[in-house]
Amino acid sequence: MGAFRRGHALYGESIAFLNGGDVAPDARTAVPIVRAKGERTVNETTNVPESESRLPGYTFGTPQVPRSPITGDEWEELKKSALFSEEDVVYLRLSETVLKDQVDALLTTWRGIIFDHPHLRAYDEHPRTHEVDADYAKAVAKRFGQWVLDTARAKYDQAWLDYQYEIGLRHHRSKKNQTDGGHTLGHIRARDLVAFCASIVVPMKSFLGSKGHSAEVVNRMYDAWWKSMLLQATLWLQPYIREGDF
Ligand code: HEM
Repeated sequence: MGAFRRGHALYGESIAFLNGGDVAPDARTAVPIVRAKGERTVNETTNVPESESRLPGYTFGTPQVPRSPITGDEWEELKKSALFSEEDVVYLRLSETVLKDQVDALLTTWRGIIFDHPHLRAYDEHPRTHEVDADYAKAVAKRFGQWVLDTARAKYDQAWLDYQYEIGLRHHRSKKNQTDGGHTLGHIRARDLVAFCASIVVPMKSFLGSKGHSAEVVNRMYDAWWKSMLLQATLWLQPYIREGDF
């Protein structure tokens, strides 16, 4: 089987799985309305499933979030720059079924990387005493877990785009520490934000492979995560870049 046909079949298989088996395996061109088996109902305004209570500081979909400077059309253009397609959306959504009970383990992995490196740990520490602000770190970690689910759900609308801008501001001096009243270094350098994408996505491979999917399906989910991470980090960089240069 050629690479394209194999990819085609895999894609159909994944869509069928996500729809509980009621979509023809070769429905490659249709933009799927993907609902994972047993999927929860989501509050369409906030993206928060009815079963999940809202986390402190998680303002997704609320009027507190400023409007993204990027338009929907510009977002569409950006996705094309990253070769991000509807197929990636399908594999991200498949990844939710794989990752949703592994979020805490992922967070432990990522926190481990941060705490192993003083230049990264500094962002959770008081700049003078170097004491870790544990309450702050805990509050942020909860929203980080929510981010894993939001990334996997891949529902791209204005509220999502606006919240990407907000996440960027919360890493930048514009808003760091504000949400949780933190007492830590007041700005995450752009270089750490970008380089850390590798620390997020590389360790995910074994998590994505832990539920018995074929190596090819795992690779598809992994590629989709890479592209999504790069696209989000790109959006987060906006506050760091001189006006007109973004
Ligand atoms: C590039 C990969 C990264 C991802 C996916 C990521 C993800 C997130 C998310 C989802 C939030 C919470 C946003 C919210 O409030 O809802 C957040 C905030 C935060 N992140 Fe990151 N982050 C990344 C890079 C970094 C790096 C490199 C550091 C530093 C080690 C860092 C440290 C923090 C801190 C301290 C906050 C809290 C900011 C505040 O509100 O004061 N992040 N991050």
